[in-house]
Amino acid sequence: MALLIRNGEIVTVGSRARADIFVENETVTRIGKNLEASAGVEVIDATGKLVFPGFIDPHVHIYLPFMSTFAKDTHETASIAALIGGTTTYIEMCCPSRKDDALAGYELWKAKAEGHSACDYAFHMSVTKFVEETEAQLRQIVADGTASFKIFLAYKNFFGVDDGEMYQTLELAKRLGVIVTAHCEDAELVARLQQKLLAEGKTGPEWHEPSRPESVEAEGTGRFATFLENTGAAGYVVHLSCEKALHAALAAKSRGVRIHVESVLPHLLLDKTFAERPGVEGMKHVMSPPLRAKKNQAVLWNGLATGAIDTVGTDHCPFDTEQKLLGKDSFANIPNGIPGIEDRVNLLYTFGVKRGQLDLDRFVDAASTRAAKLFGLFPRKGTIAVGSDADLVIFDPEYRGVISAKSQHVNNDYNAFEGMEIEGRPSVVTVRGKVQVRDGKFIGERGRGRFLKREPSHF
Ligand code: URP
Ligand code: ZN
Ligand code: ZN
Repeated sequence: MALLIRNGEIVTVGSRARADIFVENETVTRIGKNLEASAGVEVIDATGKLVFPGFIDPHVHIYLPFMSTFAKDTHETASIAALIGGTTTYIEMCCPSRKDDALAGYELWKAKAEGHSACDYAFHMSVTKFVEETEAQLRQIVADGTASFKIFLAYKNFFGVDDGEMYQTLELAKRLGVIVTAHCEDAELVARLQQKLLAEGKTGPEWHEPSRPESVEAEGTGRFATFLENTGAAGYVVHLSCEKALHAALAAKSRGVRIHVESVLPHLLLDKTFAERPGVEGMKHVMSPPLRAKKNQAVLWNGLATGAIDTVGTDHCPFDTEQKLLGKDSFANIPNGIPGIEDRVNLLYTFGVKRGQLDLDRFVDAASTRAAKLFGLFPRKGTIAVGSDADLVIFDPEYRGVISAKSQHVNNDYNAFEGMEIEGRPSVVTVRGKVQVRDGKFIGERGRGRFLKREPSHF
């Protein structure tokens, strides 16, 4: 069915104008003033609203066997939560462990999503070992449309690769034109520091941050950058959390290294005192890299404002209270992860745009357009233009609300951002022209989401 969105303020990177948007056959077919609606066309009045391109979360975990348990969401729950929060596309980390076969893992992750997601999705393929069959398998996965890899320098013996495997992955990525995303913390240092702290009887969640200090992340970031420099591959540092790591990335960039940076919502808005709360309250705020000293937040916001930090993701990774308690005797056993897929856009708008830390242009860029460009989705996604998919967020800047686990759609029993006030939220969200969300409620078609095939673009 055709859709006409009338009189909204359309915001894309580099442009802002009041106009109508006409949608047919899942795509935007016309943008202009006073477009006519023929009979049977659904009309939405967007007067007083901002109209954004559908937001893209470039870093989520949905199906994830990790730390003796599984992340809580399914594609049904995560995609509905994502859409209610204005995210119309997410890129999930496909994470088979070192003991698993990569290709079998890829098929498993795809099967978990297929027919279950209400929004569109893609994958970053994790390379968690590099053995004889890896190159052929990765070539097959790229040919299938998954044109980005993921490596972990952390999580020794589980997801983590050694330097030789990192080199082989980057060297292959360069040949294939594939960008490599990386979790940059040195696994050996983390393991040693964990052992030392636990031996001293320091077992609570407040010791998670000291077990993986800023210098450990800066080292991982610098080493990843050096490997990019010497292979010529393009890279993307996920969930960068602190000033020291940002310096390492930007120093490499200034030498011409093709390195990009993502920050995630928890590091922008929460600090390490949340993880220092006693007992399970602290455990709820354990993720890696850890929540940092508050002074880092201003540096991250400034990096975002200037574009030195490219994107904002969530690293959405829900474990409930009972799962967090797996780490009651040792912080090293607390399942790492903080969910945020539902709240990213509203919190970024509130604490970024409304608080004057981010202009509207960078907001759209960081939460949508830049990810689309880096990960081979632009201009199908990440903008509003004739020919683009009609993923549209009609955003009400006058809405006022409070984040609460009681009203969330993510499959979890707490919300790390509990009590934060939001100023603005999506009032209508479309996926390829179909209204999926209206006024905070999912009213659309479950399973509408499609796997997005992407071409390599980083030669
Ligand atoms: O703590 C985190 N970040 N959990 C999810 C896995 C990862 O490292 O991204
Ligand atoms: Zn990570
Ligand atoms: Zn992650």
